[in-house]
Amino acid sequence: MSMTNEMFVKRSLELHLFFLRIMKEHALFMAVSFPPKNEDFIREGAELNSQFNNLLREALELASGVIMVENDAATEFTLPAEEKTAFLTGMQIDTALTEAELRMARPGARVDAQIVERVGNLNNRILSATRNIIRYKTRVLDALLACELLSSNYPLLIEHIRREAIRYVDLVTRLQNRAEPENIQQELIEDEFFWNQIMEEHAEFIRGYLDPTETELFDLADDFAVRFNELNSRIQGLRTSQQFMMFFNESEELAEEIRDFKAQGTQGILACGIRIIAPPLLADHVLREANHYLRLLSTYKQIR
Ligand SMILES: [Fe+2]
Ligand SMILES: [Fe+2]
Repeated sequence: MSMTNEMFVKRSLELHLFFLRIMKEHALFMAVSFPPKNEDFIREGAELNSQFNNLLREALELASGVIMVENDAATEFTLPAEEKTAFLTGMQIDTALTEAELRMARPGARVDAQIVERVGNLNNRILSATRNIIRYKTRVLDALLACELLSSNYPLLIEHIRREAIRYVDLVTRLQNRAEPENIQQELIEDEFFWNQIMEEHAEFIRGYLDPTETELFDLADDFAVRFNELNSRIQGLRTSQQFMMFFNESEELAEEIRDFKAQGTQGILACGIRIIAPPLLADHVLREANHYLRLLSTYKQIR
């Protein structure tokens, strides 16, 4: 079965409003993580950040009037988190773009041939930019693992954000081929495994960035890591449709729980009520990823 033009345009743009902001932030988080000595890595991160910012601006222009801005694209915390992070790091963050996104026109426009072509063209440029950021992440990870580079990001965080970028390339490639999933059950279980692992690692990053005095939050974060890990370890043993259903429900409940935890955490960090060494925008970033996972799960609920 092949995809209609309208589905192609909407699915592409929905994916981009989520992932382009994620990519531009990965580049920013990396750029601010290195010592002054590594000016090449810093400059490259900043350049990638501005490239993805431009791609997001284009995607927003195309998306205006065609799709909605959902809570995986921007939240109520995104703008204040950007302002605070720009203040703390001295990096320029295009907050005007975020403001425009939050005011974007509601859907109603028709999908015409011109927009189909523009989206196809944008998809190709996104693929090449994302392959570039994957290479950058690989070079940084290699240098970290060879103990030739210092960063305030954990090596696992670089591995994690590289995995997210690889996922993005994979999903855009499928859209470019207009490929519909062949086996929805298989696709769902892969998505669950992928995002449960992402959620587990978020809990581990939060645990690791908290000040040692934040014992209560540390224990909460640690508990999420253990529970997501335990959940994913059961995936191989799933056989009956009832077991798959239970796995789905548990994944959704746990994702909702960690989403609430992240939302509270973001609020706490913005109010300067939590001792932590991560930029405020990282808190909103992982919140949006939880929102994205929950959105994904809810689309499966509609087709099942
Ligand atoms: Fe991310
Ligand atoms: Fe992530």
